[in-house]
Amino acid sequence: MPLESSLYPAEIEIPSRLCLTEMHGSILVNGKIEGEGFAREDVFAACLKRNSNGTLVSWRLGTAPNVDVATVLSAVDAAAAAWNLGTGPWPTASMGERVAAVVRFRADIAKVRDKVIAFLMLEIGKNETDASTEFDRTLQYIDDTLEAARNLDRDNSRLQFSGGIIAQIRRSPLGVTLCMGPYNYPLNETFTTLIPAILMGNTAVVKMARFGRLFWEPLLPAFQKNFPAGVVNILNGDGKTTVTAAMRTGKIDVLAFIGSSKVGDIIKSAHPMPHRLRSILGLDAKNPAIVLPDADLKIAVQECVRGALSYNGQRCTAIKIIFVHASIAKEFTQMLVAGVNALKPGMPWHEGVAITPLPDPQKPLVLKRMLDEAISKGAKLENPELGGSIIGQIFFPAVLSNVSLDTELAREEQFGPIVPVVEYQDVDEFESYVVQSNYGQQAAIFGRNPQVIGGLIDKLANQICRINLNTQCQRGPDVYPFTGRKNSAEGTLSVGDALRAFSIRSMVAARHDDVGKSVVQGVLESDTSSFLCTDVLL
Ligand code: G3H
Repeated sequence: MPLESSLYPAEIEIPSRLCLTEMHGSILVNGKIEGEGFAREDVFAACLKRNSNGTLVSWRLGTAPNVDVATVLSAVDAAAAAWNLGTGPWPTASMGERVAAVVRFRADIAKVRDKVIAFLMLEIGKNETDASTEFDRTLQYIDDTLEAARNLDRDNSRLQFSGGIIAQIRRSPLGVTLCMGPYNYPLNETFTTLIPAILMGNTAVVKMARFGRLFWEPLLPAFQKNFPAGVVNILNGDGKTTVTAAMRTGKIDVLAFIGSSKVGDIIKSAHPMPHRLRSILGLDAKNPAIVLPDADLKIAVQECVRGALSYNGQRCTAIKIIFVHASIAKEFTQMLVAGVNALKPGMPWHEGVAITPLPDPQKPLVLKRMLDEAISKGAKLENPELGGSIIGQIFFPAVLSNVSLDTELAREEQFGPIVPVVEYQDVDEFESYVVQSNYGQQAAIFGRNPQVIGGLIDKLANQICRINLNTQCQRGPDVYPFTGRKNSAEGTLSVGDALRAFSIRSMVAARHDDVGKSVVQGVLESDTSSFLCTDVLL
């Protein structure tokens, strides 16, 4: 059977649990779920399918909202009204009330798990295991964030005494947040900013990602039911026009954006008063790995394959270039090719599948261009049988050796299944690559010699924000800081850091004398303030 036919399913082969009837996405603005009155755009599955003639055709999953500027501005106004200059019921609610709302919300979204996972699989081509992990990890993130919020509230419920001043310090919300997640983790990464933002008392406008929009539909009722009108608004529209228009209003206080640094800069610069904008950004990365001469090659290959090609390499944290010492380059590359060739291509619902269709129909051609340029500058395609070939929206992973540092592939993020390998003689070459790079998220070191590794760690620590030893680059566990330097990030995300990122410390201070003590005591005993209070959230 030709490869194309074995990979792409005829309609009858698609599991019935995924054969969703066409979905027409809605928006949530000011507490109302609206399904009409705005333009729409078609949403296609990443997976094509074969029609009865055997031809590969697009598969329309439904339509997503494509709202105009006026609708986005009405969502910004709704969020601004719910914020009400910090006096709205949500920003002034106690942490206990907000925690209770998020707990109810979490219980409601758990009920639509299967639908959300099905849409992630079909629309962004994520395999079933990874799509399920994305959902479950998001629930875990909510649980951990709730726990961190309770702890924060407990810690802040203690009075502090220093320099003759009694103080109570709490974290207060910042205002209206614009949340924009990426298409590779459209659920998880959006929620890792949205949940801490609202838990801390901010209000939000969520703009859906370029791909991964229909999964929002089963989630909208849970947002509508559990949060006051205007606290969370969710919609989709053309980014260039609607997002810049939203920023130009000056009503956005916090920008939470995961995407490219180029787009991040455009969005930020549209704000009329940049000093009033807090930005939390997760941006591009070009995480390198280095394989030292004494590395355990089995571990190095296994981690590099997972690190470079999980979800087809579409992770900001992916290993995007591998430096291998010349003495082991041949053996490493052979083992790498074997590991890559063992990855099973197929549809997201196929058992054990690793390589799946890319959600962006233009992406295979972009990758091909990078591949061709690298080959034209001396790189060798090490798996020519299938590497770099394109069938439908599947791009077969390509392993390239002898990649010149003077190529787009060596310098820029490919965000897809190409694995560039560079041979080095001296670790200085790797260090200089990292120092010169425009990116500063993570790196991975494979080796055993403590002297070499210790020296490398010290050189890298001022360049990047996570050094992985004999393990791939990754974001998790989510309690650890996720950040970057240079063009890779602004601000830090983690369960604990995110609560801080979406809030500011405010304090009440009184002289530690008879008058001060008596007023503080009076407020505490009369229970007249939810800020100046020592009640502990259980
Ligand atoms: O694309 C960036 C994601 O946050 C990656 O997360 O490393 O856990 O796959 P991950």
